[in-house]
Amino acid sequence: MTAPNSPLPVVVLISGSGSNLQALIDGAGDQHFRIQGVISNRPQAGGLARAAEAGIATRVIDHKDYPDRAAFDMALAEAVDAFDPGLVVLAGFMRILTTAFVNRYAGRMINIHPSLLPDFQGLDTHSRALAAGVSEHGASVHFVTAELDGGPVIAQTRVAVEAGDDAKRLAARVLRREHALLPQVVGWFASGRIALRDGQVWMDGNRLQAPLQC
Ligand code: GRF
Repeated sequence: MTAPNSPLPVVVLISGSGSNLQALIDGAGDQHFRIQGVISNRPQAGGLARAAEAGIATRVIDHKDYPDRAAFDMALAEAVDAFDPGLVVLAGFMRILTTAFVNRYAGRMINIHPSLLPDFQGLDTHSRALAAGVSEHGASVHFVTAELDGGPVIAQTRVAVEAGDDAKRLAARVLRREHALLPQVVGWFASGRIALRDGQVWMDGNRLQAPLQC
């Protein structure tokens, strides 16, 4: 149990460099949350060092050690639950989760995805956005549901696509904006302003008509 007014315990799941994790670490001081643990499915994920540097407990649950997705997800859930989090944040976590796992954390698991959802669900979002010739691209934070990158969107950040952009340059510009977006949304959730009810996002007691723009 978390005492009233104490920061919300958050667990962050990563697979890679963890720059979004770093943004959360840097943002946690001003917010209403505390990163209780970081779990990676890849032993080499750069984010593990960022967590250790910040004195945050880390765990590796390597998907290669498990015979199937269900067994991996059960081990992952055990590791998550050991931190007793109020919120699970997928920050560059590159595994598809089973419905059982997703349902276990319904309404308390969010993901950051590098596109303006519902556009460009899945991988390679930046090159697909460029190939589609869109004038705006960005990132979204959404509640996780069983539909991959399909859960209700809480907030988005937008960037203009510029002449001369390639996927790398566009990705870097979007990523910088992700670093403001994710701590903002986690802070809102932690202070009780954001909730998922009946499959919809609510903020300050009002149902969102469209994603918040950050
Ligand atoms: C970010 O672009 C995030 O939106 C996506 O994976 C990337 C993770 O980057 N899901 P990092 O590991 O946080 O640096």
